[in-house]
Amino acid sequence: MKKVSILGATGSIGLNTLEVISRHPDKYTVFALSAQKSWKKMLLLCKTHMPTYAVLIDPDAAESLRKTAPEGVTVLSGENALIEIASHKEVDYVMAAVVGSAGMASTLAAVDTGKRVMLANKESLVLAGDLLINATKKSGAELIPVDSEHSAIFQCLQGGIDGLKKIQLTASGGPFLKTPIHELKHVTPEQACQHPNWTMGKKISVDSATMMNKGLEVIEANFLFGLSSNQIEVVIHPQSIIHSFVYFNDGSVLSQLGLPDMRSAISYALSYPERQDSGVGDLDLTKQKPLEFILPNMSVFSCLGLAYEALKQGKNAPGTLNAANEVAVEAFLGNKIGFLDISKTIEKTLLDVPVSNVDTLARVVENDQLSRQIARSVIESSA
Ligand SMILES: NC(=O)c1ccc[n+]([C@@H]2O[C@H](COP(=O)([O-])OP(=O)(O)OC[C@H]3O[C@@H](n4cnc5c(N)ncnc54)[C@H](OP(=O)(O)O)[C@@H]3O)[C@@H](O)[C@H]2O)c1
Repeated sequence: MKKVSILGATGSIGLNTLEVISRHPDKYTVFALSAQKSWKKMLLLCKTHMPTYAVLIDPDAAESLRKTAPEGVTVLSGENALIEIASHKEVDYVMAAVVGSAGMASTLAAVDTGKRVMLANKESLVLAGDLLINATKKSGAELIPVDSEHSAIFQCLQGGIDGLKKIQLTASGGPFLKTPIHELKHVTPEQACQHPNWTMGKKISVDSATMMNKGLEVIEANFLFGLSSNQIEVVIHPQSIIHSFVYFNDGSVLSQLGLPDMRSAISYALSYPERQDSGVGDLDLTKQKPLEFILPNMSVFSCLGLAYEALKQGKNAPGTLNAANEVAVEAFLGNKIGFLDISKTIEKTLLDVPVSNVDTLARVVENDQLSRQIARSVIESSA
């Protein structure tokens, strides 16, 4: 029986993870759940899954939960509590599904203590890729990708990496694939969050609309699979049926297919190297629309180009890109800036933040804070 902590349990990935776990009560038990402040959602999850610990970052929300939680569930609060349930000695598996850089410290804590870390929180790798990969090697932790594209590549590489030439990440193109660029100026947060194929949290939905999500995934792939930027390509595949391609030097190309449902990748991260029922239905290609593949237009999806630039630049640039993106997406969701201002904010922040090394956690955090400060002043000065 594997004991699982789910960080970001009330979110899209967290709930899908609980759904897969519920199908296999003989294999997994929920040890701890966390969220930021959604205490009512957490209360329902506590009643259903009876974790040993429930963590809410927000102290007031934690207090509300403490008054109502079922007996046997200990309610904790604050960022240290998140680290505690990620690194607790009784935990075997950690689902890292907090959104954004807020997930980095807990992901690192899980890796440091040698857990199986099911990585949905791609921002951790973008911010602190070298630190996380080195810590994984040192502790013997398992870092299993949950992003559907990286899970696909991971699955295709089970025969080994011998002869691996390059990979191609597939991208849906998001809700604005066919929107003319002059109309993008006026799109609303609601429109940006209406993804054609996937149901996801708001931040990743906006990232998909700008294609920054794919940019972050390019950087994630660089760290996970040890590939250089020119070995990682992106192709738009609006149907989201093929989850990525792996090219070998003998001309063979492997890919993994499936319906666009995150439970497949989550289930594989849980059961690896075996497979189990995930609840996802069978793919019937005779009933699918024709599969299309289109090269991304970098002048429309400039965030993708900025991510490649940051990866090539290295050092603190990926962390700066991520921080500026989080600030800009939050401002867009709050109707403070327009959709096209997201990439402009990131571009200007990348120019303004001095180049530095991020070889310690303290330097990663320092750069993240400085980049956020500069991104906010870029937004204020353009208001
Ligand atoms: N959704 C997908 O299909 C998908 C696919 C691939 C990768 N991912 C990645 O998975 C991660 C989670 O995405 P999601 O779509 O599941 O996000 P989501 O639906 O927005 O859920 C985010 C979760 O994180 C918690 N949270 C938010 N801010 C926090 C903070 N400052 N500290 C601690 N916890 C916090 C939320 O709690 P509250 O409910 O209290 O706000 C919630 O439980 C992201 O990194 C995303 O890029 C998602």
